[in-house]
Amino acid sequence: MKGRRSHPFADRWNHNTHYLPLLASHIPPRVDSVLDVGCGDGTLRRAVGSVGRRVVGVDLDASVLPVDSSGVGYVVASAEDLPFADRTFGVVTMTMVLHHLEAERALAEAARVLVPGSVLLVLGYGRYGGWRDAPYEVRDVVTHRLVSRRMRLWDPPTAKAAPSGTWSEARATARDALPGCSYRRLAMWRYLVEWTKRC
Ligand SMILES: C[S@@+](CC[C@H](N)C(=O)[O-])C[C@H]1O[C@@H](n2cnc3c(N)ncnc32)[C@H](O)[C@@H]1O
Repeated sequence: MKGRRSHPFADRWNHNTHYLPLLASHIPPRVDSVLDVGCGDGTLRRAVGSVGRRVVGVDLDASVLPVDSSGVGYVVASAEDLPFADRTFGVVTMTMVLHHLEAERALAEAARVLVPGSVLLVLGYGRYGGWRDAPYEVRDVVTHRLVSRRMRLWDPPTAKAAPSGTWSEARATARDALPGCSYRRLAMWRYLVEWTKRC
């Protein structure tokens, strides 16, 4: 099927893997170190890895992490207390993890370990908060129906949690913690926050 083959995660598709190509496209090729916070089974880590690039995944739950033959790819740690020095990574990603934890602390930690001039990417979701969300809800349902029928659905073995706040609360949290960030609602119940560390 044409549409199915055209998505790199057509055989392991869900609303998160759908956006991995988008996230990967926001990582400049010159970036040689990436941290994925709340990495789960390491799908993003593998997707953005390349020759000469170190990608580290951090998760609190050791049981979801893949066996790491290199011994440096995965670290069991809390997103609110990252075991890395300031200004270590060229990009930090957080996909579907903010609603599991203390978001302000985790965002501050992610910002701390970023090299100035580099980018933090956050994929997340929110809860329906009223009529302002209605047009997005319609778009999300329609898009899901159109896209998902061409994909093989995949349910990863990682912990899941309901959104901790509404979409507008998620946006406010990001804007407070990451001044100047961009916040974009994506189809199929996701938002993307992008923030560049200035200094
Ligand atoms: C919904 S899963 C998302 C996994 C992966 N990022 C993805 O997009 O498939 C949330 C992950 O966050 C991890 N997590 C929850 N609280 C955490 C914390 N305080 N510090 C680090 N990881 C945490 C969970 O163990 C789980 O693997």
